[in-house]
Amino acid sequence: MRVVMLAPPGAGKGTQGTLIARHFDLPHVALGDLLRVHMSRRTPVGERVREYVMAGELVPDELVLELVVHGLRGTSDRGGYVLDGFPRSIPQARQADHILTELGLAPQVVLHLAVDDDEVVRRLLARGSLENRLDDNEITIRRRLDVYHTVTAPVLDYYAANSRLVSVDAMQSVDAVGEDVLDALETLNPDVTRLPAAGDVLESCG
Ligand code: AP5
Repeated sequence: MRVVMLAPPGAGKGTQGTLIARHFDLPHVALGDLLRVHMSRRTPVGERVREYVMAGELVPDELVLELVVHGLRGTSDRGGYVLDGFPRSIPQARQADHILTELGLAPQVVLHLAVDDDEVVRRLLARGSLENRLDDNEITIRRRLDVYHTVTAPVLDYYAANSRLVSVDAMQSVDAVGEDVLDALETLNPDVTRLPAAGDVLESCG
């Protein structure tokens, strides 16, 4: 299964992407995480993207695309992928369709997590007070939201037109969102058998 996650900042892409990847045993490729690794290692890519990320702007497409193609290499042997944070614009979505289709890696499901702006700001300020993520300050969070609404949200219509879009209410608890996400993916992809939860395994072992 090849899943793309498309949602506002703080909607839970990382949280739910990790769950989906673990549940279906898929690699999780998260663009923001890859960019942060480059920044912390001060690689040439990291130095080029730093100012964009810290300002809440999208980094140039050519850099992102290279990371995506590199990150997805080999995923067909592993049953697919969960791609978190790409595409974030109509040009990126068109590039994704073109290049990933050529590689036999076109997304099958686009998962949208619906959350409102006030909740995003609350979650990200809470994380900013606990973790050292430099774009979790109010000015940058507001800019990330602006970019999402103006540049990324139109991608939802792009995928809705291709019937690949599924939307989940992400204003619930992490566990409730996770349940809805897994249900939605299993409904869309009936060939995938749900793995037993840890508690079920323990129960069946007596
Ligand atoms: P990225 O790292 O992807 O940041 P983002 O999109 O702003 O998303 P976040 O990671 O902040 O949030 P999330 O949706 O993953 O939620 P999470 O699970 O972490 O990108 C960073 C930057 O990289 C971009 O701004 C851009 O500069 C650049 N970039 C990335 N991709 C790019 C691209 N394709 N093109 C160009 N540039 C690109 O949760 C957030 C917090 O909320 C956590 O503390 C979590 O514990 C909590 N939480 C999660 N779910 C819930 C819940 N249901 N209830 C309560 N709390 C919750």
